[in-house]
Amino acid sequence: MVAQEDVIELAKRRGFFFGANGAYGGVAGFYTYGPNGAAVKDNLESAWRDRFTVRQGNMEIEAPTIMPEAVFEASGHLDGFDDMLVECPECGESHRADHLTEDNTDIEEAESLPVPEVEELIREHDLRCPSCDAALSGEPVEEFNLMFETSIGPGTGQPGYLRPETAQGIFVEFPRLKEYARNRLPFGVTQIGPAYRNEISPRKGIIRVREFTQAELETFIDPEEDEPPLHEVEDVEVTLYPATEQEDEEGEAYTTTVGEAIEKGVIGSDWVGYYLGVAQGWYERVGVDMDRFRFRQHLPGELAHYAADCWDAESEVGAAGIAAGSSGDGEEPRDGGDWIEITGFAYRSDYDLSKHAEHSGESFTVFKQYDEPKTVERAAVDPDMATLGPEFGGDAGAVADALQTLAERDPDAFDANEVEVEVDGDEMTVDSDVANFSVETVTENGEHITPHVVEPSFGIDRIVYTVIEHAYRTDEVDDEERTYLALDPEMAATDAAVFPLVSNDDRLLDLADEVTGDLRAAGLSVEYDDSGSIGRRYRRQDEVGTPFCVTVDRDGVEGDDPDTVTVRERDSARQVRVPVREVADELDALLDPEDDRAFDALTAAYDEIETGVETA
Ligand code: GAP
Repeated sequence: MVAQEDVIELAKRRGFFFGANGAYGGVAGFYTYGPNGAAVKDNLESAWRDRFTVRQGNMEIEAPTIMPEAVFEASGHLDGFDDMLVECPECGESHRADHLTEDNTDIEEAESLPVPEVEELIREHDLRCPSCDAALSGEPVEEFNLMFETSIGPGTGQPGYLRPETAQGIFVEFPRLKEYARNRLPFGVTQIGPAYRNEISPRKGIIRVREFTQAELETFIDPEEDEPPLHEVEDVEVTLYPATEQEDEEGEAYTTTVGEAIEKGVIGSDWVGYYLGVAQGWYERVGVDMDRFRFRQHLPGELAHYAADCWDAESEVGAAGIAAGSSGDGEEPRDGGDWIEITGFAYRSDYDLSKHAEHSGESFTVFKQYDEPKTVERAAVDPDMATLGPEFGGDAGAVADALQTLAERDPDAFDANEVEVEVDGDEMTVDSDVANFSVETVTENGEHITPHVVEPSFGIDRIVYTVIEHAYRTDEVDDEERTYLALDPEMAATDAAVFPLVSNDDRLLDLADEVTGDLRAAGLSVEYDDSGSIGRRYRRQDEVGTPFCVTVDRDGVEGDDPDTVTVRERDSARQVRVPVREVADELDALLDPEDDRAFDALTAAYDEIETGVETA
């Protein structure tokens, strides 16, 4: 397994990603994607859109990234979106108290522990400041809200926040979105875009940053009726690490099928199970190594304030600071890397829509039409306003409303001579006779229900990192060591590179231009490179994961094979000589995800050129 430092170094050198604002010293937690990284990220987002928007028949929206305070009061983020912070008394550096605990003890999920317990662990293990080694024992652990605050408009403005999850942009627009869905459940809305969290200690390159991209799907369902198409995924094999296994000292992750895990109650929600199955196939498609991947259930104390059940997709990446299995300066060899959360799958119940309904006064319900009209008994009141008016003055209307609510909630209360209702925090007593309580028989065509939400929430940056690291390989070609990225062609930044062997022969340059034009006309993204030795040009493309290199050499313009080029496959470094007029069609077919043709098809059809590869 490669160390994270090596991947981050390659990422910077080859234009995948690097710390932003370097000219001004940089600010931790912000990264710029270079040309190769931006292209890989874009490919990953397209693959996500294809699977979770288009193929699922969902709608995609794009909402603002700054939202007013009221949204986050309602969503619970103002009160509950905190991380544990401990500040060093010597150097003043802030640290995530739960991460320090996890890094220095056997505890895996310190986030799920209460604050006093984390303070106690810091004391017990004499944890020290990672920056200056001062003792942190006895320092208070505080809850730190992760949202970035801003002010909207000039002057003091109104407070706003950069959204900490894209999801809220979907929830607040529900009253309109349900109209686009013709008021029929279930329906899904997706969004890909930036989210912002003022992380206490951003670290590990793009794995923990302050601005990142989420791809989220909010599925709105009727919990009583809507079922996912489980038959599509019930046989999909998944590696699960349930809460029970995490709590058991001997426990470990195991492989099962989605269908079996749901049947045995390991996955509590059919909908969450369904999305684990769909996502499993997608991770395979984009190149996550399935031997370094699992679904981990949240421990009870770890659940977000909105979540009723939650599973994370986790990938294993090289440990920071030391390559797994190797022994660095005085450090013990490690068998594995770090497990990072790349996606959260949450059953959010009706939490979000109910909260927004309560705080905004808008309707966040859907009218559910019955198959047949139903005759039901309805408790109702018809208060005598001539009595309520003089008795309660301006509150009389509110008292009447409260009586109706009480009738629906607790009709038996009207058996007593008096009933009590609360208006603006004050208890009011009303004679039952004045309420005129009755039970009516009515015919109803349907009811208003608040949908439940099932949410897969993908962290695009962490998946980009995983895909790059899991593709990282070294071997020897022609007695020279090389590093290459075995990226799936759908993810690679460039489809093909074209090289004229030398840059001082017009015939080679003209043919290289012609081939580049043909490939671009076929829709391939092509890099043209005529600088440096041919070996170096191959190494450059190998390191960014370009699947094919096309070289125009002298044999291709004269000699026995005129109008031919060599085509080299990245992973095997095998080369074949292909006629110029065929090359665009051949590469187009090899790159087509729907076409399972392999490079062997070319070696069978054309002359292969001898090269030597040894895999390290
Ligand atoms: N709407 C649900 C939600 O936001 P989350 O688990 O907090 O859930 C979803 O975030 C995903 O976003 C995570 O699985 C992770 O991949 C990514 N993510 C969260 N915080 C991040 C950070 N600081 N840097 C990079 N990615 C992050």
